[in-house]
Amino acid sequence: MQNVETLTRLVCEIAREAGSYIKKERASFSTDKVERKHAHDYVSYVDKNSEQMIVAALRKLLPEAGFITEEGSAGHTDEQYVWVVDPLDGTTNFIHGFAPYAVSIALCKGRQIVMGVVYEIVADECFYAWQNGGAWLNRQPLHVGASAINDALLCLQLPYNSDAYKPVIKKLIDRFYGNVGSIRMMGSAAIALCYVAAGRLDAYAERYIGQWDYMAGALIVKEAGGKVSDYDGADYFMEGDSIVATNGVVHEDLLTTIREL
Ligand code: IPD
Ligand code: CA
Ligand code: CA
Repeated sequence: MQNVETLTRLVCEIAREAGSYIKKERASFSTDKVERKHAHDYVSYVDKNSEQMIVAALRKLLPEAGFITEEGSAGHTDEQYVWVVDPLDGTTNFIHGFAPYAVSIALCKGRQIVMGVVYEIVADECFYAWQNGGAWLNRQPLHVGASAINDALLCLQLPYNSDAYKPVIKKLIDRFYGNVGSIRMMGSAAIALCYVAAGRLDAYAERYIGQWDYMAGALIVKEAGGKVSDYDGADYFMEGDSIVATNGVVHEDLLTTIREL
């Protein structure tokens, strides 16, 4: 395998190429091209074509690696390295022409996230990190913010599993609305994570999400000096379906509330 920094920069190019394709399709996109995976969980030919482009390019880059991809066009068996790909994170935003939406690509080796790239298409922002190499946005270093809970900007999202999550989000909003700086919903898990890394948000929490949603962004938060765990507070979040990512200062505030749910 090549040097991991070089590899990360090449993956940034692959994410940017997929992003250009998505941007081009958005210009003529019409909602009759939308398919339903489940109630309110949408997909289109753009997600599927983006995934095929990304998989083909990553295969050339590292032929020995397997894949975990949202649209399931490639798989893995017992490969040492596995690419984790969300070809379009924020599909609902994309369908509505509503920023942000992104491409997310991570490379994992067993329980380690070796590198992560998230390319936000509308603002042309490429967030990336490699293990022990820091976190970056368009070649500028990223650092998490430092706000305490009273002034923190939180991102609380609405996953597709509304039946299971509705009681949780109600309690989170009840606890935090009026007691923090403010609350946002981004519509893209990958971007919420990158915004925590960039200090634009102080925390992000969501459950019922997939590895493709969070793997790249989680490494970017950690390399920017933030903290990432699952809803139980466990550092090892990589096989779970929940993420709490923060500037570190407010991590326990979120976990305390989540534990009370
Ligand atoms: C979704 C987005 C959304 C989050 C959902 C994800 P998709 O991914 O990240 O913000 O709330 O849980 O599944 O379907 O747009 O790739
Ligand atoms: Ca996603
Ligand atoms: Ca997706």
